[in-house]
Amino acid sequence: MEMELYSNEDLHYLDNAATTFPKPESVLRSAVKFCAAACVNPGRSTFDLAMEASNMLLTARQKLCALFGGTDHERLVFGYNATDALNLVIFGLMRQGGHVVSTRLEHNSVLRPIHHCMDDFGAEATFVGFDSSGYVDPQEIRKAIRPDTKLVIINHGSNVIGTVQDAAAIGAVCREAGVLFCIDAAQTAGVIPIDMQQMNIDVVAFTAHKSLLGPMGVGGLCVGEDVVIPHSRAGGTGVKSAQLRHLEEYPFRLEYGTPNMVGIAGLVKGVEYIEEQGGVAAVHEKEMVLAKILWDGFRDTNGVKLYCADTLEARTPVFSFNINGMDPSEVGTRLDVDYSVACRTGLHCAPFAHEDIGTTPKGAVRFSVGPLTTEKDVTAGVAAVKELAAERN
Ligand SMILES: Cc1ncc(COP(=O)(O)O)c(C=O)c1O
Repeated sequence: MEMELYSNEDLHYLDNAATTFPKPESVLRSAVKFCAAACVNPGRSTFDLAMEASNMLLTARQKLCALFGGTDHERLVFGYNATDALNLVIFGLMRQGGHVVSTRLEHNSVLRPIHHCMDDFGAEATFVGFDSSGYVDPQEIRKAIRPDTKLVIINHGSNVIGTVQDAAAIGAVCREAGVLFCIDAAQTAGVIPIDMQQMNIDVVAFTAHKSLLGPMGVGGLCVGEDVVIPHSRAGGTGVKSAQLRHLEEYPFRLEYGTPNMVGIAGLVKGVEYIEEQGGVAAVHEKEMVLAKILWDGFRDTNGVKLYCADTLEARTPVFSFNINGMDPSEVGTRLDVDYSVACRTGLHCAPFAHEDIGTTPKGAVRFSVGPLTTEKDVTAGVAAVKELAAERN
């Protein structure tokens, strides 16, 4: 099947923290092939095509469960994105009230559901701060846990400053306190190794369209053994149709209606692409080589303020910066129009993080590298920032 593939050599796409682009060709072909050749519901029937769809879904559950170090692929559930998955966890657990510990690095996909649970259901929350380098001290999480704490939910990799939290140390604190521990892995799944068992993580929330290289519209949860997340929705599952309450067993427990099978078909190939590159750690290492070019360039340019990037350790290739005297949105427009550099400006859906790094209300400019970013893209980004900064010096 002929398909027109992205081929704009002149665009330097540095907005991979929003969504990775371009996607590997295998991802696109798999999604299109599934749509054309086997686009039927999984698990509902036994004719050949339905079995093919069910097998593809099973492969996806197995591959993602293995990627996160989960124990049971049936506990890998699919929803629509990280926001959807995080809502299931937060509303599921906090709708009856109680206390949740989170951080000031969170994305609105965590902050807003928590605030709704506070306003509407009387839940209480403690948002732990981060230090001047962008890291949350696991001991501060320990101090924030109360006898009525039901959930600790943290941003694993910041979509603003790129810092990666010590999930294993926070997991150990949660395990000791007997509190459920969930990570928002929207920015880390596929680029930072995650091992739920070693790190004492109970729930991983992921999205397909960032470093997992899948299409938009797929995300989900990998849920650990013995972890109970009450339903906050109910609906069709294709099985046990006479039952009038939603199923308790996984994966149905947290899946509602027909999944995005076309997206999942693409996602399987995204995970395979990561495997072919040598795995998650190898992808990270390769991206950090390009990140260093950005980092060196920013630090070497007068008038550029880079936030929380003292080191390249324990981080993803996501950087926020501002240029002296320039509005970040103006920088974004100039980068796009004059240099064909695509980036993201503003508050990046993380209002507390920007408040704490001192960039409220206008935010910052963000550059982010992905698995298909080239050296040409990052050198073009650095050259453009240097020229813009020189205009102000
Ligand atoms: C840290 C973080 N959490 C959650 C999300 C939400 O992801 P999605 O838009 O796929 O739901 C994002 C997206 O940018 C993110 O960066």
